[in-house]
Amino acid sequence: IREDAIDNIKSANNLDKLEEIRVKYMGKKGELTLLLREMGKIAKEERPIIGRLANEIREEIEKELFLAKERIKEEIKAERIEKEKIDISISKRSRRLGHRHPLLITIDELEDLFISMGFSVVEGPEIETVENNFDALNSPENHPSRDLTDTFYITEDILLRTHTSPVQIRAMKEMEPPLKIVSAGRTFRFDDVDDTHSPMFHQLEGLVVDENITMANLMHTINIFIKELFGKDMKTRFRPHYFPFTEPSAEVDVSCFKCKGEGCSVCNGTGWSMELLGCGMVHPKVLKNCGIDPEKYSGFAFGMGIDRITMVKYGIDNIRLLFENDNRFLEQF
Ligand code: PHE
Repeated sequence: IREDAIDNIKSANNLDKLEEIRVKYMGKKGELTLLLREMGKIAKEERPIIGRLANEIREEIEKELFLAKERIKEEIKAERIEKEKIDISISKRSRRLGHRHPLLITIDELEDLFISMGFSVVEGPEIETVENNFDALNSPENHPSRDLTDTFYITEDILLRTHTSPVQIRAMKEMEPPLKIVSAGRTFRFDDVDDTHSPMFHQLEGLVVDENITMANLMHTINIFIKELFGKDMKTRFRPHYFPFTEPSAEVDVSCFKCKGEGCSVCNGTGWSMELLGCGMVHPKVLKNCGIDPEKYSGFAFGMGIDRITMVKYGIDNIRLLFENDNRFLEQF
């Protein structure tokens, strides 16, 4: 019995098996238990010897069972540690660092530039009233930009702003002159997507209102800003234009980024790049619409496409790249 039991215990490799062995020898009907029960049947003088022997065997089996149990527990633990081990040496390169989006880099740069010139940065909502987006800006009732085919209407009175100019209106209605603000953000027009158009794009708006503000202040501000942004050798050209909310109004061209005014294939030999921003003296009616006395105050405003500036700055020839969030593109910034 003893040798059998010890052999069995040593070869057991799990706790269930061990319990099975214990029952086999020492359970109620176990081999050793039955043997001890038979004691009465053996001769009196042999009882102490057999009894002692049986007890010794029982103790030995118990000891072996205990040792085997410890051994199996250790094995289970070792196995678990092995299984749960985390290999910190792999996949450490699969995590990629994010990058600032080129549009946000441009917006930050523009805002910093205007802050250095004394402007404050304000924000306005992307969902606007027809009043702020068109009416207060002196936009004629029948102006084509109001058409359903040009503007995303949410209701009859609410739309997705088609430019950042409604932020001017909000600023003038809420604050007293002197005012010197810029505001950048998303704008929306019902355009088909092509290389240079997207129904969602970005503008930066500027507004200055104070006593004695003239066209000279406007031109000076724009000239300084263009030179700071694109380089000291950049020239500007103001072309007369029309906006309902400014009078007089102008569009501003910048010398060609490639030839710097010499004339090349990019600018068709003109030396000028495409128009970069719209601007003008705030229309007296617009001041009045916002509760500002046009006899006392005057102002200028300007607005520019941030997407276009970003594309020119980084040589991006397809506006879609700005909105596709392709990592291979974004990683370059
Ligand atoms: N809001 C005009 C546009 O979207 C730009 C502009 C802003 C023009 C301010 C003049 C003054 O085209």
